[in-house]
Amino acid sequence: MNIHWLKMTDSTNLDAWRNKDAAEDKTVWCAEYQTAGRGQRGNRWESRQGENLMFSILFRPRGLRAAGQFVISQICSVGIVRYLAELGLDARIKWPNDIYIGDRKICGMLIENTLKDDTLAVSIAGIGLNVNQRVFPPELPNPTSVLLALDNAVTGLEGTPGLSPEEELPRLLHRIFELYGQMDADGHVPGLEEEYSRLLYRKGIPAEFEETEYVTGGGLRRFRGRILGVEKGTARLLVEKEDGQVAKYYFKEIRFVL
Ligand code: BTN
Repeated sequence: MNIHWLKMTDSTNLDAWRNKDAAEDKTVWCAEYQTAGRGQRGNRWESRQGENLMFSILFRPRGLRAAGQFVISQICSVGIVRYLAELGLDARIKWPNDIYIGDRKICGMLIENTLKDDTLAVSIAGIGLNVNQRVFPPELPNPTSVLLALDNAVTGLEGTPGLSPEEELPRLLHRIFELYGQMDADGHVPGLEEEYSRLLYRKGIPAEFEETEYVTGGGLRRFRGRILGVEKGTARLLVEKEDGQVAKYYFKEIRFVL
């Protein structure tokens, strides 16, 4: 595996971005610490030095149509869930690509793509997986980590020994790359859509959601509904409302009420 191990960087997504013209498919940058870690919605991604995995994978999916770019998200999400299952953890995918254990976030992803005509030239998948961190800043609403989740799942005590990022990253990448290696020229991976859909957080469970200003035109509108799945082709989230109507949402149009 082609992994660049960095003690410190601004953001591994930026490392990948700076090298995007020369780097080979599946090159990885992994940092012990990021000074300007980036999260979704313009947020920062903070992580204690050396305790967690922060890395970015540069994919060069030759010929993948821009319209099929969600497959990269699905490959990474399902790969991470499979890796966590190996550790004994039952994880779910909070659409589009957060990874949850119960109602707590263990992993976030920031995927940035560059297009050439109507194909995907490069996709940079930045992944932050909480591994050994047990104490989090109070402003984070619902964080967890591999160790905290294993404490709960296995012993109920703080007994789980720490994991080595150097050993865990190749195991995790193996799970992601095994799916990526199965992708055909049309961006199809056998069984992936079904597995992703089956692993969706809150699928089929009545719950509270909020439509954002992108839908309402201003303010948030709360409603109850249940997730049916993800629309093929557009990757929109399908939510059945209480009146039986099925609404479709792009990222940023809907929020989960936790
Ligand atoms: C989120 O907000 O949930 C996405 C977090 C993504 C964080 C990872 S850490 C490695 C990579 N480098 C970054 O600057 N961000 C991503």
